Amino acid sequence: MIEIKNVSKSYVKGKKSVDNLELEIKDGEIFGFLGPNGAGKTTTIRMITGILNIDEGDILIDGKSIKNNSLEAKKNFGFVPDSPDMFLKLKGIEYLLFMADICDIPQDKRKERIEELTKKFEIYNQLNNQIESYSHGMRQKIVICGALLSEPKNWILDEPMTGLDPKSSYDLKEMMREHAKAGKTVFFSTHILEVAEKLCDRVGIINNGKLVFVGTFEEMKQKFKEEASLEKLFLEITER
Ligand SMILES: Nc1ncnc2c1ncn2[C@@H]1O[C@H](COP(=O)(O)OP(=O)(O)OP(=O)(O)O)[C@@H](O)[C@H]1O
Ligand SMILES: [Mg+2]
Repeated sequence: MIEIKNVSKSYVKGKKSVDNLELEIKDGEIFGFLGPNGAGKTTTIRMITGILNIDEGDILIDGKSIKNNSLEAKKNFGFVPDSPDMFLKLKGIEYLLFMADICDIPQDKRKERIEELTKKFEIYNQLNNQIESYSHGMRQKIVICGALLSEPKNWILDEPMTGLDPKSSYDLKEMMREHAKAGKTVFFSTHILEVAEKLCDRVGIINNGKLVFVGTFEEMKQKFKEEASLEKLFLEITER
């Protein structure tokens, strides 16, 4: 469960990139975070994960404040950032073992878990190559494997489908469904409205730092225009 309590953030004085955001993502829920480029999605996600300091408000992950109890809060989530270009000099296996060390995954469990995840995403045979030599999609996959290695309860994913091939994208969506079905939480941002509609229990739409809608797609259609296509609906909401 992720509780975002009246959170604001400014990079530049006088301009709030996230403005008094109030949002609760429940256990057992897949929540999609939508909004145009520059709306404040990544900024929000960076605050949830403790990468950016929160100016005002607080964020609790399973009741632990990322502000005041950040180490405990960080034990409760796995995070996939918007860019997978990191630790490029490490081999895939070195990166995953590094993640296993950070997350205190027992020695007897880590090998099995690495094998399971990397075989699922079809990068098992690449693990002895440097991440630098991976394609964008392969980098995305290794970052996803690293984030999910410790079986975290809350998944926080910033545009996770970007660059994934159809099979991996399908597998990830299935994993998200299984995760939520087991009573755990998935929070992800996306620009792919069809994915959000099919996958999410609820969505939130942010525009210019402000939350302009929270609810199911059905509620969104009812509230705005029943007949409109998803794309038109989105454009209309974010223009208001
Ligand atoms: N490091 C930064 N310094 C200054 N301004 C920033 C910085 N990062 C983001 N911003 C600004 O904050 C606002 C929100 O950006 P953010 O990256 O959160 O948007 P986003 O919704 O993730 O967009 P996208 O869909 O393009 O990923 C934008 O106006 C952006 O210019
Ligand atoms: Mg972003």
